[in-house]
Amino acid sequence: MSFSPNIVGFACQWCTYAGADLAGNLRAKYPPTVKLIKVPCSGRVEPEHVLEAFANGADGVLIGGCHFGDCHYKTGNYKTSRRIAIYEKLLKDSGFEADRLRLEWISGAEGYRFAEVIEEFTKQLQEMGPSPMNGGV
Ligand code: FES
Repeated sequence: MSFSPNIVGFACQWCTYAGADLAGNLRAKYPPTVKLIKVPCSGRVEPEHVLEAFANGADGVLIGGCHFGDCHYKTGNYKTSRRIAIYEKLLKDSGFEADRLRLEWISGAEGYRFAEVIEEFTKQLQEMGPSPMNGGV
């Protein structure tokens, strides 16, 4: 039996969180592996939030934001996009594979896409195995 990864999802309230709501309304099927944290904008997710999620047992972290041009704060998602290189370095320096962090732009109209992303990320993490904090290598 493959393990069921713990995914912490930081979801922008205007798009990805609404997309997750829509996925529920559409009864889109996806694994129950993600725990969403609603944030005002993907740009409000700080590196320490991501590291804390991993330190507390997440096998993967998803940051979900609005598509470019749709951020309610104009540039929050651009800021998030620019931070990815920083996140990758922080994760590698902390002993985690950078692939354990995923950034996706999912709008409130993309319920099926939200479900697909969770399904894909879950499969990817199952192939990678548990995070080093959870006994993985
Ligand atoms: S408001 Fe959604 S990413 Fe900024």
